[in-house]
Amino acid sequence: MCGIVGYIGKRKALPILLNGLKRLEYRGYDSAGVITLDQKNFFIEKEVGKIKNLEEKINKEFGEVDRIDGNVGIAHTRWATHGESSVKNAHPHKDCSGKFWLVHNGIIENYNELKSFLEKRGHKFISDTDTEVLAHLVEENYQGNLLKALETALKKVEGTYGIVLVSKNEPDKLIVARKGSPLLIGVGKDEIIVASDVSAIISYTDKVVYLNDGEIAEIKKDNFKIFNNIKKEEVAKKINKITWDIKEIEKSGFDHFMLKEIFEQKEVFLNAIKGRLLFSEGKAKLGGLDLVADKIRKIKRLIIIGCGSAYNAGVVGEYLIENLAGIPVELEYASEFRYRNSVLEDGVAILAISQSGETADTLAAIREAKEKGVLTLGIVNVVGSTISREVDAGIYNHAGPEISVASTKVFMSQVAVLVLMALYLGRQRKMSLSQGREIIDELQNLPKKIDKVLTLNDEIKKIAQKYFSMKNFAFLGRTYNEPLAFEGALKLKELSYIHAEGFPSGEMKHGPIAMIDKNFPCFFIAPNDSVFKKNLSNMEEIKSRQGKIIAISNKKDKKLEKIIDDLIIIPKTKEYLNPILALIPLQLFAYHMAVLNKKDVDKPRNLAKSVTVE
Ligand code: M6R
Repeated sequence: MCGIVGYIGKRKALPILLNGLKRLEYRGYDSAGVITLDQKNFFIEKEVGKIKNLEEKINKEFGEVDRIDGNVGIAHTRWATHGESSVKNAHPHKDCSGKFWLVHNGIIENYNELKSFLEKRGHKFISDTDTEVLAHLVEENYQGNLLKALETALKKVEGTYGIVLVSKNEPDKLIVARKGSPLLIGVGKDEIIVASDVSAIISYTDKVVYLNDGEIAEIKKDNFKIFNNIKKEEVAKKINKITWDIKEIEKSGFDHFMLKEIFEQKEVFLNAIKGRLLFSEGKAKLGGLDLVADKIRKIKRLIIIGCGSAYNAGVVGEYLIENLAGIPVELEYASEFRYRNSVLEDGVAILAISQSGETADTLAAIREAKEKGVLTLGIVNVVGSTISREVDAGIYNHAGPEISVASTKVFMSQVAVLVLMALYLGRQRKMSLSQGREIIDELQNLPKKIDKVLTLNDEIKKIAQKYFSMKNFAFLGRTYNEPLAFEGALKLKELSYIHAEGFPSGEMKHGPIAMIDKNFPCFFIAPNDSVFKKNLSNMEEIKSRQGKIIAISNKKDKKLEKIIDDLIIIPKTKEYLNPILALIPLQLFAYHMAVLNKKDVDKPRNLAKSVTVE
């Protein structure tokens, strides 16, 4: 989704802004723009498409980007919501006088009313965006104080925003404001970089201050002041240290971030369990939950919320926590939970799962739950993100930055953390010490098994070569592997735009099997577990209708080998841990299918890494 970068300091702003925008490319966008300010002169450029188009445009018109002066500037990648992707709609946007320019993430919900009001006051609009009203509102309210002008303007605004504003009138500052759309301040030596995402600033500084909703800040090159927009008081903020490494946001020799991230999964798994297993007590140590330990002991029902892959990981969690901890669990799409009047009796807790920690639907669902006085927990990857800060307690994934739009390593890490949570909750309830130790034992065996699954990459590529021109796929699994069927289908459709659906294997005969013919392959996740024979019967049903079958299993079974067309054998593990291993071939299959179909693997069309609007 849209990305923001702002710079003020001693250096030339333009190269830093463009570099920051490139770091945000993974979030998804369709146009980009930049403005720098050199004393009283603006340099402005916008272009549709990739940042390299913008860069080429600048180079063509002005020579190298380094030649453009200006130590202050703002830049933006836009993912179109109001108005098509075009130069006129690209940010930054300006007022009538051209003195006030701003970039904005989020949606101004009452922009129609504001636009009519401003037009009546004589303002002329040139774009179709909701954002432009903000620039005119600042102009309308400017009385010699830029901070005050934005503060007053925002009183009239309904919706969400992360805003960075510059003006010729006060060229030594940036004004930023946040409500519902992330913004952070990177504090360097004699320079400050603001951004919507940590990856835009880590090349320059590891010191960061996170803005909260309702905060507005005045930023100069060597200091900043943050105010609470409601109480109008200055707020003292902690400077946090970023632990991510610049190498983590580079491809390091891989063709795509997605492949790199798939191959990082052993490390990611180890990071998720590191320091969290207590073998002698057969327990998991989850420090983040200790804050609300008493409340957690009293949980009688858990509602897991998330979107996309995070939701699918939650379904694995549902099986894990119900079976291992004996707590009833329900799954809700965050986008539905926020608008339904769920019955939230005493003892209910909400667990939000989110890689980015910024997904608008998940955040709104958390806020709704908090409003109703319910205990809120989170499994979040991005440290300092809004969800991580707003839940009562939580667990970080420590999976490092995930750049590819399609979630791979973080899904793996979410499942790993859910196993730990099932262990933690289980040991507080019915789980015996020996079962706790058995889980820990096998968790410790998994890293080498993950490595083994990764060696199947070439084999999986060959399977993809057989099937890459197919137009439809079904993914099927039972119990712990049912959510993997959904995840396998999601990966294939988001990367290759091939129609794919996930079903519980037993559901096929209730309707979907009508679609099956020789051109509709089915991908089964069928380890040798308590439902293996049931899966075999479901495969027979597909075979009898000439459907092709690809299967992931952990047993070379004669009956299985007779039915399937292609078999991927992964190592054996406990039934409840199988998703951690079976996941990898699904990711690799989706990856190779996308490459073979010549799709933009890391940045699939129409998608954004972090969905910060409804
Ligand atoms: O950042 P989040 O985990 O909250 O994001 C949730 C979904 O938007 C995300 O998982 C999405 O489905 C990915 N494209 C999946 O690959």
